[in-house]
Amino acid sequence: MILVTGATGSIGQYLVRHLKNQGSKFKALVRDEAKGRALGCDYVVGDFDKPDTLRAAFEGIDRLFLNVAPSESMARQLNTAIDVAKAAGVSRVVPVSSPGASTTSKLKIGRWHGEIEEHLQASGLGWSILRPGSFMQNLLGAAPLIKSEGKIIGGYKDGRVAFIDCYDIAACGAVLLTGNDHVGKTFVLTGREALSYPEVAQKFSAKLGKPVTYVDLPVEQVVASAKAKGTPAALAEEFGQFMTVIASGYAARTTQGIKEITGREPRTLDQFLDENLQAFR
Ligand SMILES: NC(=O)c1ccc[n+]([C@@H]2O[C@H](COP(=O)([O-])OP(=O)(O)OC[C@H]3O[C@@H](n4cnc5c(N)ncnc54)[C@H](OP(=O)(O)O)[C@@H]3O)[C@@H](O)[C@H]2O)c1
Repeated sequence: MILVTGATGSIGQYLVRHLKNQGSKFKALVRDEAKGRALGCDYVVGDFDKPDTLRAAFEGIDRLFLNVAPSESMARQLNTAIDVAKAAGVSRVVPVSSPGASTTSKLKIGRWHGEIEEHLQASGLGWSILRPGSFMQNLLGAAPLIKSEGKIIGGYKDGRVAFIDCYDIAACGAVLLTGNDHVGKTFVLTGREALSYPEVAQKFSAKLGKPVTYVDLPVEQVVASAKAKGTPAALAEEFGQFMTVIASGYAARTTQGIKEITGREPRTLDQFLDENLQAFR
């Protein structure tokens, strides 16, 4: 039996769809019963902050998709889950990590993921690690401003990003959770084309039939604005560092990870926009 955590999140919702479509036996871990019912699959209620609920939820689980929203608590939450998985006899864990995961990363998120990867690798459990780059779905956060003012705002300068569709990350997860290949491997996953934000804005203009421009601002200004809109300070600061990393060209690299796992090419930003255009109109 497979257990999908973060099942209501950006990757999890696609993973639930993939596993349903291929007729796999799985359960979703949810914090909220109503969200579990809405997923339309078997589910179990559990919370990474309540280890007892994990012990009950992991009973009879063989393969675990390990994913949660990024936060200061993430390493504690997922390292506890790894310990519970080990005690429950789980054979293989597939975590969502990030490309620069390392306990010595300059980015906090990179360090949190580094701690989780090290803990998993030392656990004796089977593992296959997914390190996806920036999600196309992040662009949904820009939808209100694209709709109202035809603008995308950021501090990315002309740094390119090989945006990845969460659909593809989930497709990789589905293969790793249901097959026997790739144990002990770490995959950096990216989209197939690296685009700058001005190029992304051009794509929006063409699809929406109205001008959309990218406005580059000092990173500090973008961070201050995110905080003013309610983003927790630590995450907003982290986001600022992340923009600087993108501006340096770090996110421009493309890899063959998705093709290696699924046998097909990654989806393009054009495909994502065609399917999600309504959200930006
Ligand atoms: N965004 C990017 O571009 C990017 C790039 C590389 C790596 N990543 C990594 O991708 C991962 C997922 O990030 P995301 O932003 O897409 O998050 P997400 O998967 O959308 O996170 C939300 C999910 O986490 C669940 N959750 C939150 N707290 C929980 C708890 N205490 N117990 C159980 N479940 C809990 C939520 O459940 P509820 O429905 O109950 O809230 C929801 O299913 C992170 O590790 C992030 O670092 C992201």
